Amino acid sequence: MSQDWDAGRLDSDLEGVAFDTLAVRAGQHRTPEGEHGDAMFLTSSYVFRTAGDAAARFSGEVAGNVYSRYTNPTVRAFEERIAALEGAEQAVATATGMAAILSVVMSLCSAGDHILVSRSVFGSTISLFEKYFKRFGVEVDYVPLAELAGWDSAIKPNTKLLFVESPSNPLAELVDISALAEIAHAKGALLVVDNCFCTPALQQPVKLGADIVVHSATKFIDGQGRCMGGVVAGRNEQMKEVVGFLRTAGPTLSPFNAWIFLKGLETLNLRMRAHCASAQALAEWLEQQDGVEKVHYAGLKSHPQHALAQRQQRGFGAVVSFEVKGGKEGAWRFIDATRLISITANLGDSKTTITHPGTTSHGRLAPQEREAAGIRDSLIRIAVGLEDVVDLQADLARGLAAL
Ligand SMILES: Cc1ncc(COP(=O)(O)O)c(C=O)c1O
Repeated sequence: MSQDWDAGRLDSDLEGVAFDTLAVRAGQHRTPEGEHGDAMFLTSSYVFRTAGDAAARFSGEVAGNVYSRYTNPTVRAFEERIAALEGAEQAVATATGMAAILSVVMSLCSAGDHILVSRSVFGSTISLFEKYFKRFGVEVDYVPLAELAGWDSAIKPNTKLLFVESPSNPLAELVDISALAEIAHAKGALLVVDNCFCTPALQQPVKLGADIVVHSATKFIDGQGRCMGGVVAGRNEQMKEVVGFLRTAGPTLSPFNAWIFLKGLETLNLRMRAHCASAQALAEWLEQQDGVEKVHYAGLKSHPQHALAQRQQRGFGAVVSFEVKGGKEGAWRFIDATRLISITANLGDSKTTITHPGTTSHGRLAPQEREAAGIRDSLIRIAVGLEDVVDLQADLARGLAAL
């Protein structure tokens, strides 16, 4: 922050305030203009009064912005708000969720290091680990998400990171984050959690013991399907490395997108509560339907990790996956019969979305990789939005009728 700014004053005033207040206020630095909204700094660089001022800023002798690949006040506000909401020491924003995962591994791992990844992660995450990190000499192995003993025995002397999505995409599997963090730390590894499905409104992995949290901000943090972004949050020690990589390599977030995410965060908790309520109602209803063979939603008593979800999360999330009769053809007929719900692979939108993971988000995986991740041909995923749940149920009923 430039010295002309009243940096930090508001943040110290926020000591001990509630989540909802942080979601609206954290990271907001008042400028001399005293504007009330979050200011958007659409600038690539910053000007200095003199050559000496420029040199002092570049050397770090005087704090302040020099170039938007390094820092931008709007992006900084978003980062500070996320850090406050996650209970992390620091956060740094990225161009996409994938860029967040890339930045963590690039900054913390070297050739010869080993990473353990839960089997049930987002398709592009598996591709990133399999096709790219392995090419640079990073060893990658996969472990079933929920089995703590499996994680423990798979850790090797060169294991640097354990990477999980909890809940996972699309099957809503969970891992006990506190227990896994203890296992990782006992053997000198770090635990990274993709918290995309829960957001800090429902789960704060750092508070549970994880070292690093990554997000696709494209999802619920935006909340209205407008733009792409990501964020990494964690302790200063590791974040220093992540920030260094981002500033050099450049997958940084645009200030325009950061401004949208700041606005999204202001309503995050309200939206997540509404998403969860509708998802719960639809999951319970789907479970009663003849054409549905299985529903994957941690809010259901039938979910094997329902008790863990109750303990670890403040809600069960918006994503409901279910298997229908008739394999892939049945799933496609179901999807095509809907009229209201959007057929798209995105999630976290106010508009409910429906997708066939086997041929979209996880379509690039080899059949055996899909099988190992439990993605069956009959699987459909909905990400429940903010429409009236009665209308959503009526639309899903059209799908069922087409089976
Ligand atoms: C759990 C999860 N992590 C990461 C990503 C990647 O995010 P992005 O599309 O913003 O790169 C996604 C995208 O769907 C996701 O679902």
